[in-house]
Amino acid sequence: MSTTDKATDDPTDDVGRATVDFDHHAGDYWEQRHELWAEARRCPVAHNPRYGGFWAISGYDEVAAVSRDGATFTSKYVEGAPEGYEYLGIMGVPRLQGVPSAMIAEAEGSTHVALRRLLNPFMLPAAVARYQPFMEQCARWFLDQHVTEGRMDAVTDFTNPIPAVLTMKMVGLPCETWSYYAQVFHAVAAYEAGTPEFDRAQGLMSEMIAGLLETAERRRREPRDDILSELVALEIEGGRTFTDAELVGVLWNLIGGGLDTTTSLTSLSLYHLEEHPDLRRRLVDEPELLAPATEEFLRFTSVNEMLTRTVTQDVELAGQHLRRGDFVMMSWLAANFDEKVFESPDEVILDRSPNPHLAFGVGPHRCIGMHLARALFAVMMREVLARIPDYSVDREATRFYRGSPQMAGVVTMPVTFTPGPSSGTERPF
Ligand code: HEM
Repeated sequence: MSTTDKATDDPTDDVGRATVDFDHHAGDYWEQRHELWAEARRCPVAHNPRYGGFWAISGYDEVAAVSRDGATFTSKYVEGAPEGYEYLGIMGVPRLQGVPSAMIAEAEGSTHVALRRLLNPFMLPAAVARYQPFMEQCARWFLDQHVTEGRMDAVTDFTNPIPAVLTMKMVGLPCETWSYYAQVFHAVAAYEAGTPEFDRAQGLMSEMIAGLLETAERRRREPRDDILSELVALEIEGGRTFTDAELVGVLWNLIGGGLDTTTSLTSLSLYHLEEHPDLRRRLVDEPELLAPATEEFLRFTSVNEMLTRTVTQDVELAGQHLRRGDFVMMSWLAANFDEKVFESPDEVILDRSPNPHLAFGVGPHRCIGMHLARALFAVMMREVLARIPDYSVDREATRFYRGSPQMAGVVTMPVTFTPGPSSGTERPF
């Protein structure tokens, strides 16, 4: 079935709800999604009958309103809740199966507050400044491994390992194991459930989880200055610590957030710049543009394209009546291309200002890694633009994510460039 094969042509359904009708899991969704969401924005809150039914939220103001009101639109995930309806969580309609729950993004109340308080010292600008020399060393070293050859895979050799190594260091896992984790998270985001690649990644998952729990046990006995040591000691709900399953959920959210998103942002931005040599030239000639360009690429790529919520009480939004227990899918992508807020949204304007994009979300669950993501992106872009500014992408061989409709990214992107000298940087780990 294709994305737009209609279940109905009526713009309102039999209970008077505005409707929109497309299948975000159909094979042709990816190619059409910008047009589909632009069409959906004409009615920014509309009911989609697919997959048991959910509200598609596509307008900037409406997406912001939903994500700011965490009490009415909850992120929590509970199967068989006593209220008589499911709490869907954030991972799509239908919910992505076969992966641990996102225990930070799906945490609410005091546990969520405690987690954010624990993570802040590792994520706020002061912490990012501490990691800056390490990030730069990683960027130089990973590029050194290929710069003299004049070719590499921009994703697997560069944009993937750098955020991965940093995440390992921050969380407290051995940096050398980055490729093991990156492989699993990359495959889960890049391939659809049921494909051999996804299944292989899932096969590695139980081993990975066992390894995480083993390291957690070591940190209980010998704490260090890392997130894992603090997580195993954290007291929640009046004094208990996390169960193993909860701990895995927290780590899954943290490692997944740290690993794949910044990789995708950087890969897609490099791809776009190569397609638009004028923009690339400007960024090389005017490096001070990198700061506004970071925000613009965050908006334009919106790598975390959409997330879900559950309605906890009847509420009116944009003239529509949402009922307790309804599911809601908000599209950051659609909000970030809303022409009511962004002039010429389909164009990358390096110095766009203002640029109030929602790529990191907004409200109580706003991305806690956003400062880190911006810094990592800038470090990787500076390295490429300074050392291999004439890189050329092999478009035929480039493959984009076609897994979960929630995540955009690049699986592989071979590039060639004029070879340059190694910087002689020492191995960072
Ligand atoms: C381009 C990079 C990134 C993008 C586009 C992005 C996007 C987002 C978005 C949209 C949310 C909101 C979730 C919601 O409202 O339910 C979020 C939350 C989160 N992100 Fe990021 N993220 C990025 C990088 C990172 C990094 C580098 C980390 C970790 C080091 C991270 C960790 C998290 C965590 C833990 C949450 C949950 C926060 C909470 O619920 O309080 N993210 N991210």
